[in-house]
Amino acid sequence: MIDLRSDTVSKPTKEMLECISSAKVGDDVFGDDNLTLKLQDQAAGILGKDAALFVPSGTMANQIALQTHTQAGDEVILESGSHIYMYEGGGYASLAGVSVKLVQGDRGIMDPVEVKNAIRPPGGLSHYPKTKLICVENTANAGGGTVYPLDVLDSITNLAVGKNLKTHLDGARVFNAAISSGIDIKRIVRDFDSVSFCLSKGLGCPVGSLLCGSYSFIKKAHRFRKMLGGGMRQTGFLAAAGIFALEKNIERLEDDHIRARKLAKSLIDFGYGICLDSVETNMVYIDVSFLNLKMEVVIEFLKKNNVLIAASSDKHLRAVMHLGINNAGLQKAIDVFQNLKTIT
Ligand SMILES: Cc1ncc(COP(=O)(O)O)c(C=O)c1O
Repeated sequence: MIDLRSDTVSKPTKEMLECISSAKVGDDVFGDDNLTLKLQDQAAGILGKDAALFVPSGTMANQIALQTHTQAGDEVILESGSHIYMYEGGGYASLAGVSVKLVQGDRGIMDPVEVKNAIRPPGGLSHYPKTKLICVENTANAGGGTVYPLDVLDSITNLAVGKNLKTHLDGARVFNAAISSGIDIKRIVRDFDSVSFCLSKGLGCPVGSLLCGSYSFIKKAHRFRKMLGGGMRQTGFLAAAGIFALEKNIERLEDDHIRARKLAKSLIDFGYGICLDSVETNMVYIDVSFLNLKMEVVIEFLKKNNVLIAASSDKHLRAVMHLGINNAGLQKAIDVFQNLKTIT
């Protein structure tokens, strides 16, 4: 099976499994799992933040960030297709108790002017909720895996400082943003109060994310992790994979980006609707409406031909490159898409 559904589906490589099986573990709730402590230090160091916290998922990292930065009744600015708004089960409302003000991005990228307009005015006879936090998603998943230009990030973080707001970067795929733009990761995340990133996506780990920020932020976040049941025990097995990934799997994200563009270019040649400009990292959103087939038929045909893929709308498929897709697998997928046209 050539599994293009997500970069979360990749399996640990033999080398990563060796790191996992030879890990010397402790108990992270007691604070003596040395590999987890090492992973957290390493992640904080790479991002240029004081400290980091290992958590089971990107969703938990984001939810802890919301809880740590806000109080119930505050308001958070989010992009309308963002993961925190769309795909975290409404956790912002039930866990942090915040309301949300949405900004419609262009391919997921928010315009700083619109972010500014979304900030509630102060005062107002206590009528308004209090804007407290701006969240930015980089890369923007539903935008196509798009990368925030640095000047846009700077405008948003400067705006936040000027308005005394906090900023959180949902950097589930922020290493893809760094590799694609060629900008140092430390610079990309520099002015954000907190950053989350996932080990379990392009970096190829089976589980895990890190939440990074100042010492005081992480101390507070630690308590929210506990409340959510995210304090785990022999996490060294997972941390061993994470350390391996941070050392070996960042640069190779470039291969995924090259393959995504190759897929996009081939499919454009076959007549599929793709905005090549939005293929900046490892994702390709494919408009299949020209086939005049039901989406289930399209997905079933691909599956019967060993290509697994998911729909992102009634017209679009999303193909994601990852460690489990090599050049041969990519070519096979391209061939199957070419054949798909022949059944119409
Ligand atoms: C942008 C973004 N943020 C957060 C997450 C959540 O990660 P997880 O699936 O580990 O909860 C995802 C998952 O796809 C994502 O794409």
